[in-house]
Amino acid sequence: MPALAIPRTQDIPGPPRSWLFGNLREFGRDQLGSMTGWAREYGDIVSARFGRRSIVFLNHPDLVEEVLVNQNRKFIKHYQLRETSRTLGQGLLTSEGAFWRSQRKLSQPAFHRDRIAAYARFMVEATERMLGTWAAGQARDVQEDMMQLTLEIVAKTLFDAEIGGQSAEASAAMETLMRAFIIRTSNLISAPIWFPTPLNLRVMGAVRRLETLLLSIIAERRKSGEDRGDLLSMLLRAQDEESGRSMTDRQLRDEVMTLFMAGHETTANTLAWTWFLLSQHPEVEARLHAELDQVLAGRPPTVADLPKLKYTENVINETLRVYPTVWMVGREAIEPVELGGYRIPVGTTVFMPQWVIHRDSRWFDDPEVFRPERWENGLMQRIHRYAYFPFGGGPRICIGNNFALMEASLILATIARTYRLKLAPDAVIALLPTMTLRPAHGVKVILSRR
Ligand code: HEM
Repeated sequence: MPALAIPRTQDIPGPPRSWLFGNLREFGRDQLGSMTGWAREYGDIVSARFGRRSIVFLNHPDLVEEVLVNQNRKFIKHYQLRETSRTLGQGLLTSEGAFWRSQRKLSQPAFHRDRIAAYARFMVEATERMLGTWAAGQARDVQEDMMQLTLEIVAKTLFDAEIGGQSAEASAAMETLMRAFIIRTSNLISAPIWFPTPLNLRVMGAVRRLETLLLSIIAERRKSGEDRGDLLSMLLRAQDEESGRSMTDRQLRDEVMTLFMAGHETTANTLAWTWFLLSQHPEVEARLHAELDQVLAGRPPTVADLPKLKYTENVINETLRVYPTVWMVGREAIEPVELGGYRIPVGTTVFMPQWVIHRDSRWFDDPEVFRPERWENGLMQRIHRYAYFPFGGGPRICIGNNFALMEASLILATIARTYRLKLAPDAVIALLPTMTLRPAHGVKVILSRR
C-alpha cells in the first residue's frame, strides 16, 4: 500500500522570497516586525529561507513543546549558537549529546536553590555599593549600570570577588567580548570568526585574555584545594556518581566562560527593560513601592523576603513576557521530524520566537499591555506551559533561571526602595534584537529619591 503523502517543508505557507537572499533582507531590516507579520499572515508554522538555509518559524506552544521536549533528541542547537562555540568552547550552552548530558549533571548541584540563596546577600550588598555612587538629580544610563552590576555579581558568585584585581580584569575582558559579539550578531552576515577582521581580532584577543585568567584562577584553586563557596569550587569538586569523572581544566574553562557570559547580560537587559516599563506605568510603580514599603519597612531585602515580594516578582515576570531578553530559541533538525502535520527534513532550522508567542492574544488578554497583575491568581499554572517560556524548556532549560529571578527581584527591590527612575526627556528607546533583546541606545533616566 503506498504511504500517505505528508506535506513537506516547501508546502508550509510563508512569505515570497528572492532566489538569492531568500527572506534575509526583509528579516534583517526588521527582525521582530517580520516574525510578527509572518505569524499574523501565515499562521502557526511559517517557512522562510535565509540565503540557502531553510527556516521554519513555530508560533504555537504545542509546536514549541514538540521541539524542546517531546522530540528534543532529534535537534541540536542552531547555526548561530554553534558559531559561538569557537569562542565559548564546549560549555553548557553549546555542547551536545552525551557530553552535554554529563556536564549538565555535574553542574546542576551548583545551581540548587539552597546554594544560590547563599549569594543573595552579596547581590544586595553589591547593589547598595552601587547606590552609594548615585545621587538625586543625576542623569544615568541605567542599562550600563545594570550591566556593570550583574557582571560584578556573576564574577563574585563564579569565582569569588576576593580575587579583586583578577575579577576586575576578567570583567573588563568580558565587556570587550560582549561589545564585539553584539556588533557581530547585529550583522546578519559576518565573516567567519577565524577570518582576521579587526572585529574578530578584538573578539579573539578578549577571549585569550579571559582564558589566561580563568586558567590561572583554576590552577590556583586546584593547588589550594580551598572551597570558597563559589560556583567554581562546586564545579571543581563535582564528580559523576557513576563514572567518578570530574572536569578537566579545559572543561572548567569552557563552563566558567559560558556562565560568565550567559549569566549577566540577560539579567541586565531584563532589569533595563523593567526600569523603562516602570517609568511608563506610574500605577505599577506605585504598587511596587507600596509592597516594598510594607514588606521591607525601610531595610534592604534578604532572601527570606522574596516569598512576600510577590508583586516585585510579577513585575519581573511581566517584563520577561513583554520584552523577553532571549527573544527566540533555535534548533536544527538532525533527524527527519514531523511538526504540525509537515515533514521537516534534516538540516532545517526551526525558530521558536518568545517575542511572537508571548504577545499572542490567544494566550494573553491585551498582550501588548504591561500589566504585572495578570500573573496573580496562578496564571502561570493555567496557561499552556509553552505560551510563556522566557528561559526555554525541556532538558536544555536555562540552568540559571532561579539565579536570575532571585537576582532581578533583589536588585529591583534594593533600588526601588530608595530611588525613582524617571525616563530622561532626551532618552531614545529602541529595540535591538542581537543575541539578546537590548535597548539600542541604553535607558537614560533621571534619579530622584523616594
Ligand atoms: C533573565 C535572565 C536569563 C534569561 C532570560 C535566560 C534565558 C535562557 C534561555 C532561553 C536558555 C535556553 C536556550 C536554548 O534552549 O537554546 C538559556 C540557557 C542557558 N542559560 Fe540562561 N537566561 C538567563 C540568565 C542566566 C543566568 C543568570 C545564567 C548563569 C548564571 C544562565 C546560564 C545559562 C546556561 C548555562 C544555559 C545553557 C543550559 C543548557 O543548555 O544546559 N542564564 N538561558
